[in-house]
Amino acid sequence: MIDDLPRGLTARHLAEDDHPRVLAVVDAWWGGLKGPAGAVERALLLPRLYFQHFTTTSFVVERDGGEGEGEGEDAGQLSAFLVGFLSQTEPDAAYVHFVGVDPHLHGQGIGRSLYRAFFALARSHDRRYVHCITSPQNTASRSFHTRLGFTASAVKPDYDGPGLDRVTFTIDLTAS
Ligand SMILES: CC(C)(COP(=O)(O)OP(=O)(O)OC[C@H]1O[C@@H](n2cnc3c(N)ncnc32)[C@H](O)[C@@H]1OP(=O)(O)O)[C@@H](O)C(=O)NCCC(=O)NCCS
Repeated sequence: MIDDLPRGLTARHLAEDDHPRVLAVVDAWWGGLKGPAGAVERALLLPRLYFQHFTTTSFVVERDGGEGEGEGEDAGQLSAFLVGFLSQTEPDAAYVHFVGVDPHLHGQGIGRSLYRAFFALARSHDRRYVHCITSPQNTASRSFHTRLGFTASAVKPDYDGPGLDRVTFTIDLTAS
């Protein structure tokens, strides 16, 4: 499904059973960003509905139990995920809602591979633009999306509600 992952990792579409597994890692993977308020924000951003109704446009990456990192001892362990969907409203757009990579695996191109797979999926549905957002405090995410070719907005105060500032990103898939 994603053929350019590091050895020992495999991808599949998201499933409902992944909901508690993803919730269990997000705080650690986000490094506790924005403290207890950030933890609540993240949990509320990943209700079960995404794991029921957006599975075919979302991915998880797990250790495959074969050769490579861990050599089978951690088979099935969650390594990364991307929750995305095709816009219901804009027929030429798709949206990445949430993406995370196990911090032990950062810098190996896994985030880029997930986005590449999502871009291919979006293109196959005639989607030209991919949108996403992040918190201004999330400097890693801002750098990552810029490196991937997204155009970033200025910080938009209260974008997601009072006190919930965001930076928005857009990429034109016909330009890359
Ligand atoms: C952001 C995140 C998904 C990146 O995943 P990753 O697998 O480490 O990223 P990749 O290895 O695919 O990197 C892709 C590019 O982004 C760059 N990049 C990634 N993290 C970066 C960072 N912290 N600072 C600067 N550049 C970064 C890489 O250098 C690479 O660029 P290059 O290939 O041109 O050299 C990961 O850091 C993460 O899960 N963070 C916590 C969760 C989060 O913030 N998610 C995003 C908001 S929803």
